[in-house]
Amino acid sequence: MNNFIYDLSTKIYFGKGQIENLPTEIKKHGTKVLFLYGKNSIKKIGLYDEAIKLLNENNIEFVELAGVDPNPRLSTVKEGSRLCRENNLDFILAIGGGSTIDCAKAIAVDVFYEGDTWDDLYKFGKIDTIKKVLPVGSILTLAATGSEMNRNTVISNEETEEKYGLGCDLLKPKFSILDPEYTFTVNEHHSMAGCSDILSHLMEQYLRPDINCDVSDRMNEGVMKVVLDNAPKIKKNPNDYIARANIMWASSMALAGFQFMSGKKFGAFPVHSLGHELSSLYDMTHGITLALVTPSWMRFNMKKAPQYIPMFARFARNVFGVLESDDEKAASKGIEELEAFYKKIGMPKNMKDAGVEEDKLEYLASQATEFGDIGTMTSINKDEALEIYKMAW
Ligand code: NZQ
Ligand code: ZN
Repeated sequence: MNNFIYDLSTKIYFGKGQIENLPTEIKKHGTKVLFLYGKNSIKKIGLYDEAIKLLNENNIEFVELAGVDPNPRLSTVKEGSRLCRENNLDFILAIGGGSTIDCAKAIAVDVFYEGDTWDDLYKFGKIDTIKKVLPVGSILTLAATGSEMNRNTVISNEETEEKYGLGCDLLKPKFSILDPEYTFTVNEHHSMAGCSDILSHLMEQYLRPDINCDVSDRMNEGVMKVVLDNAPKIKKNPNDYIARANIMWASSMALAGFQFMSGKKFGAFPVHSLGHELSSLYDMTHGITLALVTPSWMRFNMKKAPQYIPMFARFARNVFGVLESDDEKAASKGIEELEAFYKKIGMPKNMKDAGVEEDKLEYLASQATEFGDIGTMTSINKDEALEIYKMAW
């Protein structure tokens, strides 16, 4: 086990009616709010009216910015930071899914950053140059990314067709309100893509070279099973409060402070790197991209780094209940079980079915490895990324 620091500083209000805590929490951190949301969903579910009423009743001033896209755009970030500067706003309230919360975090940085945020921070990761950010709070309406409780933001630059993340402790939301009822209206596509995303966060932390971090891995196995059990329940009944609540908490837990990496060597999330290229080029839903790439990435690793086959076998046995004594066979069976789960929750069969053109695979591979090899168990260069994409196609 490596040394680690563990700090989950976001205050969580979980459950029905927790929005009543919104004004008190905002007042702890700011006086004039950027009220940020996506397209129409928060209006449809009455959350917009509920939040506005609370702000007005408590004399909290705000400026609205609507229209954050899924795969949030750099142009929206720039618009948000302009509004903050021009109106002297000192707090950002994000109401929505991961895209809106990510956009809020990106605005929070952009307001004070003096250099070129895209090049310095997203492309070249000069995180130490971030000195000051605006505080952010969130009301989550879609369970998936864990952004409600973590230090990350992922932004798409529509001009350059690039999508990159940045992580900085200053960006952890001050508070997040998690009421599972707000997620009842998320359609099947985004609900199931969200479950795929949560599972991927868990797998990317589990399937790594460090196999002696038992607390992280045993807890992780438990949360993975929660996702496998509850995703089909939501597909069957979107209003299943218990299933929605379990998935919502799983989303936060899966990527809060990278807690399932505790003791592991920090590094890339290669499946996410491969997936982000599909979102950049095709604006594809994040969780879908991960389901498309994961099984091929696993098979590639088993072939190139067979020393990790026992870990894949442990994943198969402990998460999917595979009963097979031979490690290699167990590991392969685990990947088949994962594919069956993806099928059950309606993920596309392969990249071809998802609309990816074969002649774009080479470009995707070179973009995914633009800044060098990616990988955890084994490094993946451009040709190997291409091999994975071809297998997934
Ligand atoms: O725009 P609105 O009207 O809000 O509609 C959204 C959007 O169309 C809709 N939606 C949200 N809540 C709803 C709802 N529809 C009905 N009822 C509700 N209650 O769902 C659609 C998708 O929303 P979005 O926020 O894009 O989804 P998600 O939460 O999956 O976020 C995806 C983004 O997060 C990034 C992804 O790359 C992607 O850009 N990620 C962020 C991470 C992080 N910050 O730690 C980690 C992840 O790995 C991921 O990369
Ligand atoms: Zn993700």
